[in-house]
Amino acid sequence: MKAILKKYINGLPDDSALLRIILFFYKKAYNIYFCFVRRTRRLSDYIDTVRGIKPVLDYLEVQIADHCNLKCKGCGHFSNIVDGEVFFDIKQYEKDFQRLSELFRNIRKIRIMGGEPLLNDRFTECVEITRKAFPDAEVHVATNGLTLMNISAEAIEILRKNDVEIHVSLYKPLLQNLTRIEDFLKTHSLKYDITRTKKFVKAFNPEGTSNPKTMVKSCLAKDCTFLSPGYISRCSMPYCIRYFNQRFKYSIATNDMINIYDTGITGAKLKAMFRKPLDICGYCAIPQWVEWERGTGTSAKITDWSAVSLISSEGA
Ligand SMILES: C[S@@+](CC[C@H](N)C(=O)[O-])C[C@H]1O[C@@H](n2cnc3c(N)ncnc32)[C@H](O)[C@@H]1O
Ligand code: SF4
Ligand code: SF4
Repeated sequence: MKAILKKYINGLPDDSALLRIILFFYKKAYNIYFCFVRRTRRLSDYIDTVRGIKPVLDYLEVQIADHCNLKCKGCGHFSNIVDGEVFFDIKQYEKDFQRLSELFRNIRKIRIMGGEPLLNDRFTECVEITRKAFPDAEVHVATNGLTLMNISAEAIEILRKNDVEIHVSLYKPLLQNLTRIEDFLKTHSLKYDITRTKKFVKAFNPEGTSNPKTMVKSCLAKDCTFLSPGYISRCSMPYCIRYFNQRFKYSIATNDMINIYDTGITGAKLKAMFRKPLDICGYCAIPQWVEWERGTGTSAKITDWSAVSLISSEGA
């Protein structure tokens, strides 16, 4: 249903009233559905705890390359301002996924991403490790598609064999390549999804004066559990904020990450922690949509992320 709707929406002009109406009702229906799903899953978590079995985690994203070759202005993972190359060490990746499989009996959806994941030469090994740890998970590789058509025949075979879906965020520079990308994915019988991405959000308050509870309610990433080497967090912010700190000489604390090797940690405890707002949520703001733009990284400004005009009305 979503795929059909998206295909139709992609053909409509941005300012179309019909598009706004469709999106309004789609969001309403989605929220009702999601509220129902969330309650059912909470109940199932409770039953798992009573039965003493490991819980299922709904979603996990993992960044295998922190840097990026596209450098979108205001990237939510601050990948456009990462200096040099930063990869998730493959040995650590294997160890962490082994550990996660001790904590959770399944993860419903795992998104291998970045930065740009295809910049990591060992991305197929990451795919195999992920699949081995979670045989029943839906595994996605989220990419900007810039180098997608250069991947080797061997890599394609590994993606197919491991039942991986390729999720392409199609930004302006690649719009003219849509047909070629789609043909490539079809020809190689890869599962895929292509999302035309024309808007980005700014949802950052560099002053840290927002109310964490309020921010979590309006947050677009509240269920985006994030794995970084040895640690897990409710979203990517506690890990990725280091790049903002480095670039703009801030010292926003990153103590919202949980060491997955801590004694006494269990999947159920982690899930309970993920329901609580983080200290760093005070650095988020009500999302404000802007036109997607390519940045250069070096010209990045704090205002590329901060939803300044909305912070004052939000208050502390
Ligand atoms: C951080 S990217 C990493 C994967 C890949 N480089 C890509 O762009 O698809 C993961 C997702 O976050 C989205 N994203 C990143 N920054 C965003 C922003 N400021 N607003 C909206 N979506 C954003 C991207 O569009 C993409 O769907
Ligand atoms: S393509 Fe854009 S959104 Fe994706 S990681 Fe790179 S800079 Fe961020
Ligand atoms: S820090 Fe909190 S409000 Fe901000 S994206 Fe993460 S969960 Fe959402």
